[in-house]
Amino acid sequence: MKDRGQGSRVRGQRGLGRIVALLGFAALFLVAGCRQDMHNEPKMIPQRGSDFFPDHRGARPQVLDTVARGQLHADTYFYTGVVPGPNGQREEPDQMPFPVTMTVLKRGQERFNIYCTPCHSRVGNGLGEIVMRGYKPAGNFHDQVRMVQPVSHYFYVMTHGYGAMPDYSAQLTPADRWSVAAYIRALQLSQNATLQDVPAGVQVQNLKDIARDENLPLSFAEPWALPSSAVQALPPPAGQGSPAMAPPNAAYPKISIPETKTAPAAAK
Ligand code: HEC
Repeated sequence: MKDRGQGSRVRGQRGLGRIVALLGFAALFLVAGCRQDMHNEPKMIPQRGSDFFPDHRGARPQVLDTVARGQLHADTYFYTGVVPGPNGQREEPDQMPFPVTMTVLKRGQERFNIYCTPCHSRVGNGLGEIVMRGYKPAGNFHDQVRMVQPVSHYFYVMTHGYGAMPDYSAQLTPADRWSVAAYIRALQLSQNATLQDVPAGVQVQNLKDIARDENLPLSFAEPWALPSSAVQALPPPAGQGSPAMAPPNAAYPKISIPETKTAPAAAK
C-alpha cells in the first residue's frame, strides 16, 4: 500500500510537468508571433528592390568615371595576358609580367598539382586520371605545338578556358595563373632536359637506379598506367557524344575507351 501511494504521486507530478512543458512550448509561439522587429531588419538584401532610392534598385550602380579600390587594373598585361597588336588584334607575348623566383615556381607547382593534374597529369603530358577514364584528352605540354606557345597563352587559357577545358579564373588569382604558367615552362624543361642543362658538379642519377636503391618496383621508372581495378567510364551512346566524352585522339595511343558494356541492372 505504502509503495503504491508513492508511485502514483510520482506519476501525478510527471503529468503536471508535461502540461507545464506544453504550455511553455505554446507560449514560445505566441511570443515569437509578437516580435517581428528584429526579424524584418531594414537592411538591403542583394537583388531586391528598395523604396529608399528613386530608381528602386537596391544594388547601386558604380559611380560614373570612378574606379573602386583594388579595381584599377592599370597593368592590363598582368590582368589579361594579351597586348594589342599593330592592327588591333590581340597578341600573346612570351614574357612574364614579374620576375620568376623559386617562390613563384613553388606556388605555381602547388596550384598546378591541385587544379590541373586531374586532366594534364603531374608531368603535364595530358594523361591525367580523368582523361584516362574517358574525358577528352587534355593538351600535352610537351608536344611541338605547346612547346613553342608563349607563356602568356597559358595564362589566357586559364582565364578563358579552351575547348573542352573549363576556365580557372575563379579558382586562381591573376598572380596564381602566372605562377602556374611559369611552372608549365619548368615542366617543359624537366621533360626535355639534357645533361647540358645540369649545372657543373651536380651528379645525375638514373630513375631506374633510384628505384633499385629504394627497393621500389622497377615499373616505378616507367610511365605509370591505370591499374586494372580502376573504374572505367562507359562511352556515351553513339551520336550523343559530349565534348568531354569525345572519341580519343589517335595521337594519344595510350588512351583506350572500353567497348560498350551492357549497364548492370540498377542496384536498389
Ligand atoms: C577537366 C579537365 C582539365 C583540367 C582540370 C585542366 N585542363 Fe587544360 N585542357 C583540358 C582539355 C580537354 C584540353 C584540350 C581542349 C580541347 O582541345 O578542346 C586542355 C588544353 C589545355 C591547354 C592547351 C591550349 C592550346 O592552345 O592547345 C593548356 C595550356 C591548358 N589546358 C592548361 C591548363 C592549366 C594550366 C590547367 C590548370 C589551371 C588546366 N589546363 C586544367 C582539360 C583540362
